[in-house]
Amino acid sequence: MTAYIDAQALAASRRLIGEATNIMVLTGAGVSAESGVPTFRDAMTGLWSRFNPEELAQEDAYRRQPALVWEWYLHRRELVAATDPNPAHIALVALAAQKAVTLATQNVDGLHQRAGSRDVIELHGNLFANKWLDGCGRCDPAAAVPGMPPRCSLCNAMMRPGVVWFGEELPRVARYRAEHAAEQCDLCIVVGTSGLVYPAAGLPGAAKDHGAHVIVVNPEPSALDQTADIVLRGPAGVVLPLLWDGVSAASA
Ligand code: OAD
Repeated sequence: MTAYIDAQALAASRRLIGEATNIMVLTGAGVSAESGVPTFRDAMTGLWSRFNPEELAQEDAYRRQPALVWEWYLHRRELVAATDPNPAHIALVALAAQKAVTLATQNVDGLHQRAGSRDVIELHGNLFANKWLDGCGRCDPAAAVPGMPPRCSLCNAMMRPGVVWFGEELPRVARYRAEHAAEQCDLCIVVGTSGLVYPAAGLPGAAKDHGAHVIVVNPEPSALDQTADIVLRGPAGVVLPLLWDGVSAASA
């Protein structure tokens, strides 16, 4: 995709980033799109264009058809494991080397960590993590009985993916840390999210309410555009490296 990024918007963004002392970055599936990881809602490539989310990403669907849902997560793990971080992920690592950055992501693909980002706040869990459904508290993954899904050898509880399903609470610590970062930051950069899923989508508004500037990076219009001071209409893998290069010059 070639992108014409408005030069004025870029320059204004670089200025804001250069002046910022405490940056919060919120990412969504779009930051991994250029790695080849399907987003959720893009019509053509979206993961859900082929699946019905209600069928797969919630607890009672799992109780009803554990093997199918487990297989879908194994498929997604394979797909993600075969991808690599893209220039957007790498640019965010570079930013954190120059500025105080708190990175919160809605993504479960672990690509920020693989790019080198540290202390990533995973608001929706991690695709490669496992936990137990109705576990006995002594369930040991190492001793699990293999199957689709594996089960606890002590209580027969089903292993489940360590991601947040529809209707579930976000991990408490992750949510608290992200909300605190939104309240403390003086700049919030939103990358690659449709801004439709709360509470994550509420973070840029909270940052704004506490006096921060907001920059949105997205090739398409999003629900967070009206919260933004600046919208950079382009793919993250193209836009972010432009910002950061300028930043090092601006803040030098
Ligand atoms: P969506 O699929 O809803 O939105 C992806 C966004 O990325 C869209 O706004 C696209 O325009 C944008 N996008 C696509 N390619 C891009 C690129 N190269 N660079 C930048 N942006 C690009 O995914 P999310 O907003 O992340 O939650 O969805 C939020 C949550 O909805 C997910 O975390 C998931 C789902 O329910 C859970 O699983 C709990």
